Amino acid sequence: MTRVFDEDLTAEFGTRAIHAGQRPEPLAGAIMTPVYLTSTYVQEGLGQNKGYEYARGKNPTREAFERNVAALENGRHGFAFSSGMGCLDSIMKLFRAGDHVVCGENVYGGTFRLFDKILQHMGFTFTYVDTRDPQRVADAMTPATRAVLVETPSNPLMRVTDIAAVSEITRRHGATLIVDNTFASPYFQRPLEVGADIVYHSTTKYLNGHSDMIGGCAIVRDDDLASRLQFIHNAAGAVAGPFDAWLALRGTKTLHLRMRQHDANGREIAKWLVERVGQENVYYIGLPTHPQYELVCRQMSGFGGMISVELGTRERAAHVLGRVRVFSLAESLGGVESLISHPAAMTHASVPPERRAAIGLSDGLIRLSCGVEDVGDLLADLEQAFEGMPSAGRGKREAGGGKGQPARDTIRTGAT
Ligand SMILES: Cc1ncc(COP(=O)(O)O)c(C=O)c1O
Repeated sequence: MTRVFDEDLTAEFGTRAIHAGQRPEPLAGAIMTPVYLTSTYVQEGLGQNKGYEYARGKNPTREAFERNVAALENGRHGFAFSSGMGCLDSIMKLFRAGDHVVCGENVYGGTFRLFDKILQHMGFTFTYVDTRDPQRVADAMTPATRAVLVETPSNPLMRVTDIAAVSEITRRHGATLIVDNTFASPYFQRPLEVGADIVYHSTTKYLNGHSDMIGGCAIVRDDDLASRLQFIHNAAGAVAGPFDAWLALRGTKTLHLRMRQHDANGREIAKWLVERVGQENVYYIGLPTHPQYELVCRQMSGFGGMISVELGTRERAAHVLGRVRVFSLAESLGGVESLISHPAAMTHASVPPERRAAIGLSDGLIRLSCGVEDVGDLLADLEQAFEGMPSAGRGKREAGGGKGQPARDTIRTGAT
């Protein structure tokens, strides 16, 4: 079982990001953890080995990454998986047929798909609630509830769940609180510190930060929970490969630097968008007008670079998506480069249209993952992409809005 080095926990975040979990390699003293490309380990005699037998169970590169992320989340044990979804699938193997799970109604589309299209047919039951209101979580709990899953901030509507309040509810019911911390990253939010039992990530996103691998990781504090997860990790085998673990480990070394810049760019771009389309159409947790701004400031130490924007119609969304040059139209988020996407047709296509409508995820919604480029270039790109956007509802071209003179568009509101 991969456990943090306790001495790593005395350092501040940036020092942990660079050093935690890593020690000079014993053969030559290489400062960077090597990529241990091996499937097995030579044993000196029957029952005699160096603690490594077969690489599904343990790999030194993977262990370094697991210790690193566990230290960043202020946890005790880390588990690296082949993808965020592989990670969640393995977490769910902690439970069994007949168990009931309360899940946030706005989560990544793939999370809903795993629950609705696979686990439901294996005897799990799910209740989806608006976890912004902890009372709704409390009301959904039944004697069979074993887990509560929240994604905060949520993808793509930037809804925030009070982790401490929900953890009190789960504790009262003897259930496990699972938090998807992908959007915030441990730099801005550490759910284990406020009562979560399991925190997990798509490491594909901010933790790796360079859009060059797919991975997931789970972090826990409790030793018993860790040994159950360790068993599943090895037995079900959705483990991270050594090269992906190494890439992600290189990524986390700059997590603190990148997150500061994502945050700075996110704030600037959100400000521009508010001027352009009105604050009621901009979903950004760093806006004082965000309905949960007070909770955001209490629970997180920054806002990050994720912004969603309601443009009113699919046609208007397509206009912007088709014209960007610095932003790239692509799925995913959290890389150094800026991405833009259409959740209804992309990340949340597996959520049925009526469900999307019920939670306010419209065809006019676009999502921006603000990267760490120079913000002036990002703003200029958006400026030219918004130019000539058809007016809401009628397909007319908007008046005004030339460079340097943002004009506020007329957009259908009330999607929140
Ligand atoms: C919030 C969130 N959680 C989990 C996942 C799944 O991760 P992966 O794509 O690495 O399987 C994603 C993917 O977009 C995500 O955005």
